[in-house]
Amino acid sequence: MTIRDILYTDSIKFILSGGKGGVGKTSCAGAMAVLSAKHGFRTLVLSTDPAHSLSDSFDQDLSGGDIVAIEGIDNLWGLEIDSKKGMKEFQDNLQTGGTGAEFEMASQMLGDVSGMSPPGSDEAMAFGKMLEFLEDTSYDRVIFDTAPTGHTLKLLELPDLLDSWLGKVLTFRQRISSMMSGLRGMFGGGQDEDSSWEMIQRTKDKIRAAKLQLQDSDVTQFVVVLIPEAMAVFETQRLLGSLNGWKIPASHLVINQLVPENPSCKFCDQRRQMQQSNLKDIRELYSDLDITPVPLFEGEIRGIDGLQRLGEILIREKEVGL
Ligand SMILES: Nc1ncnc2c1ncn2[C@@H]1O[C@H](COP(=O)(O)OP(=O)(O)OP(=O)(O)O)[C@@H](O)[C@H]1O
Ligand SMILES: [Mg+2]
Repeated sequence: MTIRDILYTDSIKFILSGGKGGVGKTSCAGAMAVLSAKHGFRTLVLSTDPAHSLSDSFDQDLSGGDIVAIEGIDNLWGLEIDSKKGMKEFQDNLQTGGTGAEFEMASQMLGDVSGMSPPGSDEAMAFGKMLEFLEDTSYDRVIFDTAPTGHTLKLLELPDLLDSWLGKVLTFRQRISSMMSGLRGMFGGGQDEDSSWEMIQRTKDKIRAAKLQLQDSDVTQFVVVLIPEAMAVFETQRLLGSLNGWKIPASHLVINQLVPENPSCKFCDQRRQMQQSNLKDIRELYSDLDITPVPLFEGEIRGIDGLQRLGEILIREKEVGL
């Protein structure tokens, strides 16, 4: 799928921009968000990277953990997930009622008993948000600016991890429930069933639904961004391998920061040759994927205008001669 197809197909609800550190994930997420909003889709651009840079990219303050309307463009909102706030919401998602401290203790105990600790909090938060927007119909589209590969792989293995962890929690519950009712009989406790078990089952169902959406190529597309350098190519292989394993659709590569031709600059020319040779290898290696080469701009990509300029290159029908 070309970026144009991804952006202008109504059914695509989730677009993830991912890859190695510093390659241009945030810039691409921002650029796609601007184009999506300009096309009329109510668009939310959301950073799951604990080291946020959406605010810098849009040159607007999007921090604070709340959804903010992005100035200068209609239909576009931004959100940088706030760790503490997100964790609280995620816990609320898992259980209604009890306090965070109680939940933490209970999950720790259950984690120990079931031989599996609850998954990492940063990723859990980001995943909690994903679950939230899965059911939220107020946006036509949610564009994720993800963290560098390692973090994002942890995020994307969460559906399986959490599903299995909650499954163990439920099995544990079955084992202790007869014991608990015995105890209740002995000590005359109340008979009311704990609704948090139902909540866990519902969360499990939600996670399964999320996984199906993430695997549906009509709904989700993961756009992989890389620079034409060996290290980034290796990391891309690892990322694409994992995405493939989880059946998360990834059909497009953005090859960013290509040095344009400049015969009067020997340094530029050497970098260009190195990049062109890697670009050739990438094209051979990923002949089944769509590829968009993007030039290295003379300056940084910042603000709506800069992002739009990048966006126009991303959706160009014909490749620029690079
Ligand atoms: N094609 C380009 N030309 C010039 N500058 C670029 C280009 N692409 C990205 N940049 C600049 O490179 C820097 C890193 O880009 P960006 O923040 O989008 O990368 P990232 O992959 O999100 O990084 P991180 O891993 O730190 O989140 C930014 O200053 C951005 O403006
Ligand atoms: Mg970034």
